[in-house]
Amino acid sequence: SAQYPFYGNHQAGIVTPAQDRLHFAAFDMAAGATRADLIDLLRDWSVAAAALTAGRDVGEFGAVSGPYDAPPQDTGEAQGLPPAGLTITFGFGPSLFETADAVDRFGIAARRPADLTRLPHFPGDALEDAFSDGDLCIQACANDPQVAVHAIRNLSRIAFGRAVIRWSQLGFGRTSSTSTTQSTPRNLFGFKDGTANIKAEQPAVVNEHVWVPSGSDQSWLAGGSYLVARRIRMTIETWDRTIMREQETVFGRTKGEGAPLSGGTEFTEPDFDLTGGEGEPLIAAASHVRLAHPAQNAGAQLLRRGYNFVDGNDDLGRLEAGLFFISFQRAPKQFTTVQLNLAKHDSMNEYVRHVGSALFVVPAGARAGSYVGAPLF
Ligand code: HEM
Repeated sequence: SAQYPFYGNHQAGIVTPAQDRLHFAAFDMAAGATRADLIDLLRDWSVAAAALTAGRDVGEFGAVSGPYDAPPQDTGEAQGLPPAGLTITFGFGPSLFETADAVDRFGIAARRPADLTRLPHFPGDALEDAFSDGDLCIQACANDPQVAVHAIRNLSRIAFGRAVIRWSQLGFGRTSSTSTTQSTPRNLFGFKDGTANIKAEQPAVVNEHVWVPSGSDQSWLAGGSYLVARRIRMTIETWDRTIMREQETVFGRTKGEGAPLSGGTEFTEPDFDLTGGEGEPLIAAASHVRLAHPAQNAGAQLLRRGYNFVDGNDDLGRLEAGLFFISFQRAPKQFTTVQLNLAKHDSMNEYVRHVGSALFVVPAGARAGSYVGAPLF
């Protein structure tokens, strides 16, 4: 079973080969919580995350060895399970830095990076508060859903009285690969997803597009990254009645192999200039792959790390399904550039609706003995 260290230069869960399962949670600090509460919480979370990612229970006594007259320190459902490649990634939302009634709640208002503001409203957005924003976030990824849920459950329990879950999302089936050692998975439209993603084996690309460099407006952020989360509903009932020609035209790739419609195999670079018999481009002007390509977006690249979700159904019997999109980038502008292009022109928009949105900064990794986000304080 894979095991990834919690401590390191960068937080795990970004270039780590994307695991199969996700439990993501956004938190708000409790009313009245102080700077000391926030620092203590980050300390406690870091110690717990180091234990959990090593496959251990949280707390000195864990799930079953504590005093008989106290609640167990660990909730216990991961006993006997391996680490399952668990990574725990912490982020800070714009609201954490905001003053409330002219009070700088945590004394960090002056340390807010200029880029850390709520994402703009994009054309077609149908955002709901219930899936948006938050003071803090935790992304827990693992190859066993019970291990990911155990992590979020215990971290939110540790937060009791200091922070409370605002919204959360379970994901199954990664919709990206972040390493060339992985095969490309599929999203709920049935297409391979992650083919042209940034991969861990491209350190120069990762350095240029994923990590915040030293010398940004906030020195504490060096080695961190920006996390965008978008809850995207898919109207799969409509999609499933759409003819194959239209499905492939929407993406600009074949459904079987995932090859660009300009020819070749999965990893052949798309040729956007190639035209068919009638002179029309083989990869349509409004196709997702053309509009999302760096060539159409001033070179912007993203490290995508999303998951499929199905959260029950509505009262018409339609599955509440979609893609929980997560991307990491050195600045939010990379995402907003691509998303603005997609929101305006993408033929996929007929089949999707963005209902949740959040932006967080993910600080650099913590050293053993320290805690995540320490340079901020
Ligand atoms: C590529 C699906 C949303 C950015 C792709 C591909 C598929 C896909 C099938 C082609 C294979 C690949 O290279 O991974 C979807 C679906 C979405 C979605 C089903 C929503 C339900 C988004 C969003 C963004 C985005 C919101 C960013 C704003 C990209 C990028 C590429 C890509 C950058 C690679 C383009 C290239 O360089 O060739 N997506 N996507 N996608 N997508 Fe999406």
